[in-house]
Amino acid sequence: MPIVTVHNAETGEVTTFKAGYGANLRQAAQFQDIDLYQGIWTQLNCRGMGFCGTCLIEVDNMENVSDHSLMEKLHKVGENQKLACRTKIYGDITIKANLTKD
Ligand code: FES
Repeated sequence: MPIVTVHNAETGEVTTFKAGYGANLRQAAQFQDIDLYQGIWTQLNCRGMGFCGTCLIEVDNMENVSDHSLMEKLHKVGENQKLACRTKIYGDITIKANLTKD
């Protein structure tokens, strides 16, 4: 099972959990009670529809996650960035979460 390491950019806290191969990152984090959003966006996000862009994360191991989706291209995420709700996990990853929404 892939291991996900989450660095919280707001608090500096580091959390690690296991996720199923091909699991959706946003859903896997929620199942572990890990908040990937910054501040109020925990409540105001689009619930994983790919519209709001507030689940933005930075990924160290891009080869272990799904390719950029159409919604990520529309949000113009960076090369090492993903939307957690559009991310499937295929191997161990380290991410930086709770980033500021532009
Ligand atoms: S939850 Fe809104 S884009 Fe991911």
